[in-house]
Amino acid sequence: MKALIYRGPGNKALEDRPKPTIQDAGDAIVRVTRTTICGTDLHILKGDVATCAPGRVLGHEGVGVVDSVGAGVSSFKQGDRVLISCITACGRCEYCRRGMYSHCTTGGWILGNEIDGTQAEYVRIPHADTSLYPIPAQAEEEALVMLSDILPTGFECGVLNGKVEPGSTVAIVGSGPIGLAALLTAQFYSPAQIIMIDLDDNRLEMAKRFGATGAINSGKGDAAEQVKAMTGGRGVDTAIEAVGVPATFLLCQDLVAPGGVIANIGVHGTKVDLHLETLWSRNISITTRLVDTATTPMLLKVVQSGRIDPARLITHHFKLADILDAYDTFSRAAATGALKVIIET
Ligand SMILES: NC(=O)c1ccc[n+]([C@@H]2O[C@H](COP(=O)([O-])OP(=O)(O)OC[C@H]3O[C@@H](n4cnc5c(N)ncnc54)[C@H](O)[C@@H]3O)[C@@H](O)[C@H]2O)c1
Ligand SMILES: [Zn+2]
Ligand SMILES: [Zn+2]
Repeated sequence: MKALIYRGPGNKALEDRPKPTIQDAGDAIVRVTRTTICGTDLHILKGDVATCAPGRVLGHEGVGVVDSVGAGVSSFKQGDRVLISCITACGRCEYCRRGMYSHCTTGGWILGNEIDGTQAEYVRIPHADTSLYPIPAQAEEEALVMLSDILPTGFECGVLNGKVEPGSTVAIVGSGPIGLAALLTAQFYSPAQIIMIDLDDNRLEMAKRFGATGAINSGKGDAAEQVKAMTGGRGVDTAIEAVGVPATFLLCQDLVAPGGVIANIGVHGTKVDLHLETLWSRNISITTRLVDTATTPMLLKVVQSGRIDPARLITHHFKLADILDAYDTFSRAAATGALKVIIET
């Protein structure tokens, strides 16, 4: 089969690999029909993610059809259409029993990281019963690719951890797919203001169409001053970091109002300063989280009901044979206007 291989920092290739086989009774082999690329894949390619070794098939998002199942799988059978969660969960360990699937002792974020991932024709899914979701009969598959990672990530790490409330003020630093997923799901709670911050005017325009009440290009002028001006001098109750570089976490520290929350989503590859000399007295909280995908069943229902349409995040389509072009398009988003790119196998 064809698969996109991480070959070390700055290096990737589409290669031939053997089709994966069942290794444990709980495994399923899924024929991937659609996958996509995440900002995290770009972090891996920058060398930011030490657990991902060269030779790995990348990708932790996708939908597909069950090809075969191990003897221990009871919820899925050959031919079932499935949504693949970016988080693998056994459902039984101490962390899983607490709903913290991202820290499953035999799972967590392993797909396209510690084990081969979804940017391939087939993928092996461990703990299939508790790591796959059935796709409802009428569902639009493409939209559901947004549920593997970005929608639960924006919602859990950004909106829930950030304690977005009716009437509150929110700033989201980073208007990429994850920041926009946080923007879409923050609106479940009717905050009074959602201010999007990015360097890319295209993405900020998109954010306004997705419900942002304000948009700031932090490459042009002082973003913190502009946020203060928009919030009566106070800053925001929730500052969501959705980029993963020092500058944006530092900006969140400048944006947060007394009593507020900085909810980090970004994958960071370097250390960042924490300005306790200004923050110690401000009653703030800082949260970090690897997405648990505990909210995926809820988000599936919301998408099915039509209340949000994550397909709006899809800008480009490619075939697996052209996945290197897909990476090029996704990584040059400012020039190409890309948000999520769908890759069909
Ligand atoms: N915590 C988790 O579980 C989890 C899950 C998935 C993704 N992530 C992370 O979330 C982050 C966002 O993912 P994405 O797919 O949206 O990435 P992306 O690269 O598509 O988007 C990042 C956005 O940040 C903007 N940006 C870059 N530098 C900036 C700066 N200095 N100031 C303001 N904006 C800046 C870019 O223009 C871009 O629009 C990544 O770090 C990704 O690894 C975390
Ligand atoms: Zn991801
Ligand atoms: Zn577990």
